[in-house]
Amino acid sequence: MHKNHPILIQGGMGIAVSDWKLAKAVSETGQLGVVSGTAINSVLVRRLQDGDVGGHCRRALAAFPSQAIAQKILETYFLENGRNPGQAYKRPPMFSLESPKFLLQTTVAACFVEVWLAREGHDGVVGLNLLEKIQLPNLACLYGAMLADVDYVIMGAGIPREIPGALDLFANNEKAGLKIPVVGGEDAVTYFDPRDVMEGLELKPLKRPYFFPIVSSAVLAMNLKKKSTGRVDGFIVEGPLAGGHNAPPRGPMKLNERGEPIYGERDAVSLADMAALELPFWMAGDYATPEKFRQVREQGAHGIQVGTLFAFSDESGVDPKLRAGAIHTVLHEKPPEGGWIFTDPRSSPTGFPFKAARIPGSISEESIYLSRKRICDLGYLRHFYKKEDGSLGQRCPAEPVADYVKKGGLEEDTVGRKCLCNALMADIGMPQIQAGGRVEMHLLTAGDDLNKIARILKPGQEHYGAKDVVAYLLSEEKTVAPERPVEKALESGL
Ligand SMILES: Cc1cc2nc3c(=O)[nH]c(=O)nc-3n(C[C@H](O)[C@H](O)[C@H](O)COP(=O)(O)O)c2cc1C
Repeated sequence: MHKNHPILIQGGMGIAVSDWKLAKAVSETGQLGVVSGTAINSVLVRRLQDGDVGGHCRRALAAFPSQAIAQKILETYFLENGRNPGQAYKRPPMFSLESPKFLLQTTVAACFVEVWLAREGHDGVVGLNLLEKIQLPNLACLYGAMLADVDYVIMGAGIPREIPGALDLFANNEKAGLKIPVVGGEDAVTYFDPRDVMEGLELKPLKRPYFFPIVSSAVLAMNLKKKSTGRVDGFIVEGPLAGGHNAPPRGPMKLNERGEPIYGERDAVSLADMAALELPFWMAGDYATPEKFRQVREQGAHGIQVGTLFAFSDESGVDPKLRAGAIHTVLHEKPPEGGWIFTDPRSSPTGFPFKAARIPGSISEESIYLSRKRICDLGYLRHFYKKEDGSLGQRCPAEPVADYVKKGGLEEDTVGRKCLCNALMADIGMPQIQAGGRVEMHLLTAGDDLNKIARILKPGQEHYGAKDVVAYLLSEEKTVAPERPVEKALESGL
């Protein structure tokens, strides 16, 4: 019944590590390339301010259904010759419950651009990855991706129960809402109305993409299957060795001698339990070998999702210098105790463990990070809280400590937090230049698989392409991936 889905998924990696170039390269092979929608409005406006090298964003914007909106975006952000040396990026405003319309329009267009470019020139399938924890931009992102005919939506870092229903509504260009938790108060709701945001444009019905939540347990998968607001089509089962954010261990958090969360038996997911749910699933988190790929398929998985190997491939959005430096370091230097990856229980303002590559110069080194002056100017990871007067505010545990405490937050919550918004923008070569010329530092995330990266390299080479990763992973696979798998699945009404 699920035979037509690709067996290999290139995991979504934010911010713009899995950008349209990487997703396109993977989709061209007949497997599933996934773009990241995280902070994508900031990515678009920074690309435009860097002169839109190659004209890709402008080419995609020329295909955007509303040319009035596309023009306004270009007039606001595009710089023909890029920024002057040392010039800071102009920022879009931060999101709120009722975000300014132009911010929502820019977000819709940014996601449209990313998916449109990933789909350009071939007929493979493309997915969009979003994080449930970053809630306010998500509806605009989903709608923009659907305008570009996205085939799959994959969502992790939370329990995205309301997304399937939103996809159904957006397929008919209808308004959808998302509940937003508020510390110390009742949930709030944020809405996105396509007709309002697209300013009366005539809107055609859109394809409803497949929806795969990312889960860390079969119980959660079962809950999502039964209690979501619409159809769930499959699952990504992600374990604690995956790059990016990890689900916290079950039970009280215990740390090892290096200060990393300890995962145990209870965190392992039974493939038999997953198979019993009768929906296709893909295993993620250190599964990227042809042998493991075959083994999990034999045990009932449809396939695997792979991130780290793709994150260090030539097509990834990671700053090429950073990428090359990391590969060189791993190949030639002695790894620190415990390997190149540190699972930091504190760094992410989300409270989820977050993996950092311990590559010299990265702000995962505590001493270097402490020199960063705290500032919260992108704001994607802020959460809502109820103020004394009953109104709502937003705060982030990585913002300046005094501000966080003034907003009623606990000082202890700020300890060890890092500004992932700015650090991840720096990873992709678009660091903000702050007051006094201070350039934001990067923090490279990767899964434990980085320790074993040598296996994908040809002797004497220190780089490889996304297609090399696909060929390597499929080398034990006998059946060739069918062309345009989803079209057939959609035709047959699956
Ligand atoms: C650099 C990087 C960034 C990531 N960012 C995200 C993300 O934004 N959203 C998400 O759902 N998963 C993210 N992941 C996880 C991947 O999508 C994938 O599930 C995981 O990397 C699979 O394990 P592997 O790294 O062992 O291949 C990220 C992984 C990496 C390496």
